[in-house]
Amino acid sequence: MHGFMSNPIRPLGSVSDFVVDEFPLLLANVRQNRMTPDDLAQRCEDKLGAVSVPYLLEHFRGHHDIALLDMLFMESGIVHSGGNPGTLLQSMVDRSAQSLGRIPAMTYEDLIFANPKGDMRVFCEGTIGVSEKKFYRNQMRAERQLKQAAIFCRTAIEELAKANDQVALRDMVCSTLKAAASETYHMAQGVTAMNAELPVEHFAVIRQYFAAHPFRGFKGPSGVFSLGLFNLELLLAGDRLLASNPEYLAYYLEENVPYLPRVDMQEARDLYTRAASGRTVFALLDRISGSGIDADLAGKCRDAAIEIGLAIRLFRGNHYKAVKHQIPDVLAGSTPGTGEADAGNLLIERMKIRHE
Ligand code: HEM
Repeated sequence: MHGFMSNPIRPLGSVSDFVVDEFPLLLANVRQNRMTPDDLAQRCEDKLGAVSVPYLLEHFRGHHDIALLDMLFMESGIVHSGGNPGTLLQSMVDRSAQSLGRIPAMTYEDLIFANPKGDMRVFCEGTIGVSEKKFYRNQMRAERQLKQAAIFCRTAIEELAKANDQVALRDMVCSTLKAAASETYHMAQGVTAMNAELPVEHFAVIRQYFAAHPFRGFKGPSGVFSLGLFNLELLLAGDRLLASNPEYLAYYLEENVPYLPRVDMQEARDLYTRAASGRTVFALLDRISGSGIDADLAGKCRDAAIEIGLAIRLFRGNHYKAVKHQIPDVLAGSTPGTGEADAGNLLIERMKIRHE
């Protein structure tokens, strides 16, 4: 009944089964005018109405985020098909979001972080659904690579902050920074590979369900609300960013907090504090290069740090090409982004950021 999966996670019982096994087919029916969006909404109400509240509460335990994800898949599918979600679905979204202290709309964190890898939720069925799963998996991989690069940078910072000039130690810093650059390069190459294998007509279908919520008034899920790249940049050169791009820091640390992955947000705040006190890769490299240590080794460390900055720029260039290929209207400004209305401009501005 569940098809192929390595680890089913169904916190809403038969409702979760419905979201995974039937909902994508129903959405395809609506796209092909074989069902109205309001009939779809009614099917969801009927499913929810058939499950008792005590049963739901029992099954939520431990997987509250996935239970909400299932409800958000239904709500997003309905509203982006032009339908009106029923009162039962809407109130369940409201109540779960409230109890989790978050916004009642689908976020990047839901779609990419909470979506279980072994039992993935998708909007589309058939070959489009296969592309959709690949797209989420690629995004998950990019997040892991960015996280790994950040861990390498953190390790390098800790060693540099010890301020002792043993040559062996500096060697370790150099290879750690190189490893961070290599992860970031792989991440950048991953966008190009994803773009090449993602049929444009598939992405157009998938993407309609990521749009901003038409009546709750929230922005939609988007990579712009990933903190992976931002946190890496804070580690590399957060102190310089403070001075050169204060609006970039405000975007993530103040203006869009409800849309950002919560675990990474804690990290971002911590990294920001550290950056403000000079604990970044570049700031610490500046400090050791004046301290009489082996100039050759210091230079090699700096080159490795520069490589990280270049890999970030390579990502932004590759990413821009992917957007141009998949959704040229967004760059032309005639179609809004899912996270930001003026997405084309945002992407251009971000490509101007330099760390070297
Ligand atoms: C085919 C692949 C991709 C497409 C079509 C795409 C599309 C977009 C679009 C249209 C935006 C503008 C913001 C908005 O939607 O409102 C954006 C922003 C962004 N996306 Fe993607 N994206 C892709 C892959 C990725 C990947 C793999 C990552 C890695 C985490 C990522 C991270 C970002 C970031 C960080 C931004 C903010 C812009 C920046 O800082 O340069 N995207 N993306």
